[in-house]
Amino acid sequence: MTPLEMVLASVLVVTLVQAGRRLRRESLERRRVRSADRRGRVPIAKAPIWEVDEAFAVGPMGPDRQRTEVTMLGGGGILVPGGTTDYEAWILAVLAKNARRMFEFGTCTGRTAYLWARNSASDAKVTTLTLGPEQRVLYEASERDRALDTEIALEESDLESFLYSGSDVAHKIEQLFGDSKALDETPYVGKMDLVFIDGSHAYSYVISDTRKALRMIRSGGLVLWHDYDGPLEGRGTDEALVELARELPLFHIEHTRIVVYRAP
Ligand SMILES: C[S@@+](CC[C@H](N)C(=O)[O-])C[C@H]1O[C@@H](n2cnc3c(N)ncnc32)[C@H](O)[C@@H]1O
Repeated sequence: MTPLEMVLASVLVVTLVQAGRRLRRESLERRRVRSADRRGRVPIAKAPIWEVDEAFAVGPMGPDRQRTEVTMLGGGGILVPGGTTDYEAWILAVLAKNARRMFEFGTCTGRTAYLWARNSASDAKVTTLTLGPEQRVLYEASERDRALDTEIALEESDLESFLYSGSDVAHKIEQLFGDSKALDETPYVGKMDLVFIDGSHAYSYVISDTRKALRMIRSGGLVLWHDYDGPLEGRGTDEALVELARELPLFHIEHTRIVVYRAP
């Protein structure tokens, strides 16, 4: 192959990949709009993980080894406070392999922060925000929030050291303490490849954290929410996400409680 032929071939490959991505996005959006109910409410359509990110493309032997092999901190059926399932943790860890800047609302045990730091490039950085036990007084419930959501958020705010503490990736993690409504997201605007919204699950917090996340995410980056159970469930996360789905193309990742949005 001559150098000119090589350049033309690589331009062709890039064009085909971009066209493939556009077609996939368009087909996902069509599916979402088709599924609106009679009252015009757009439910959050389910999508298999391989439609959400190309890292999960499936070949004859399942997901690609190089793109999806991660270091895991599995839990099996053991209950981890505020935790993700092993499948959800694997998805988050795989996504970190291609991410440089990641932000998490709600640290809890620090499992996701650890998996992100462990599985990302050596120069990647994870910022995670949590409400420390001394800061519970800063929590600002709104009238619309369910009392149970507030109670759970405050109950979970009891940790000051985390699974990643003392590990050899701890230096990649910036730990912030404080109430997320008071977070000034300005330093992070347009910088994040991934934002995970998993702090307070009260309605007003999910809306507030989402508004901040949408400013922080870079073009092409992913915002993910945890603990979505469906439009008929009464938790703040469910209510907030069904409302947000009117303005954002959201997808509920099959076999998980994760909802995802890709910034255009
Ligand atoms: C469900 S746990 C997070 C689990 C964690 N993301 C993981 O993947 O392991 C919820 C966390 O959100 C924190 N949180 C609750 N309310 C908050 C608030 N108003 N501001 C910041 N963090 C909050 C709690 O302290 C708790 O650590």
